[in-house]
This record gives sequence, structure tokens and C-alpha cells, in this order.
Amino acid sequence: MSLSEHAVHEIRALPARFPEIRSAVMPALDIAQEDAGHLTPDNMSEVAGLLKLDPGYVEGVATFYSLFHRQPVGKHRFYVCDNLSCMLRGAQDLIGHLHQTLGVSSPDEVSRDGLFSVEAVECLGACEYAPMMRLDHQYHYDLTAEKLDQLIDERRAAQEPAVKKPRARKNA
Ligand code: FES
Repeated sequence: MSLSEHAVHEIRALPARFPEIRSAVMPALDIAQEDAGHLTPDNMSEVAGLLKLDPGYVEGVATFYSLFHRQPVGKHRFYVCDNLSCMLRGAQDLIGHLHQTLGVSSPDEVSRDGLFSVEAVECLGACEYAPMMRLDHQYHYDLTAEKLDQLIDERRAAQEPAVKKPRARKNA
């Protein structure tokens, strides 16, 4: 088993929430990807086993959608929309800013600290808030370079281990 107990438990609970078991494949792959960082032949076949579906079908879904990754990706992945509305409002400059700040130049690259990758994606359906993106399962709107820097800083800070206070000594 390559999936954690927690992920297995979450995937097992999915079929009850959908009228068709096949509808549970995408959320199940999402859980597997979140758990392992990316999808592997092993975790895709575990998903198939847990949902009692053909492994070829599960792999077909995973390869069709660009939000599923079969190579290691950054823990935090910027999905920046570069369709018309976002493009007209500076999406390309923002993608360039992310590339430069994180030291990456393609969707397959991961920043040196292993935390980030950047991908330009098709319209995410929030054109009125252009330019926008998805990061960590959340949409972020009306983006600026400053907002991107802040999001990067917050995630880096959350990664740093808390400084432990030295224990007070008991007097003998
Ligand atoms: S064009 Fe970017 S969300 Fe639609």
C-alpha cells in the first residue's frame, strides 16, 4: 500500500456521496495526489481497487485532466489562468514574475526549496476577477505581483519550524 491510512479511509467514504461510483474517481485521485504529492501507477491502481473500478479507466481519467500530475510537483502549485480576460489584464507578466521569483521556467520544474511550481491554465470561470489563479484549492482574484509575493512568503514561513523555547531549569 502506498496511500496513507487517512487517504484510504477518505477514498472508501466517497462512493456513498455519489449516485455513480465513477463520479468518485476525480475526488479520489485528488486525495491520492494530495497524499503522495503526485500520482503513481501504484496509487492509481490502489484507487481503482478501493473503488472497485478498472485500473485502465482510473488511469485514463488521470491522464486526461491537466490538474492531475504523474511527476513530482511543488507542494504548492500556482495554476494561473492565461485565457483572454486574464491575459488582457496582465496574466503573462504575473506568470513571468512567478517564474523569476521561484527560479522555474516550465510547469515540470519545481522551485529549489521543493515548495512551488507554476502552470498556465485555461479559463477557470472567474473572468470578472481577472487576473486570477488557483493555489492550494483556493481561487485568488485581482492578482498583482505584490499579492503573489505575499502568498509565497506566507507558505515559506509556514514551512519553517517553530523556534523551540528552552525549558526552564528547576532549581535544585
Ligand atoms: S479568462 Fe481567466 S478566469 Fe476566465
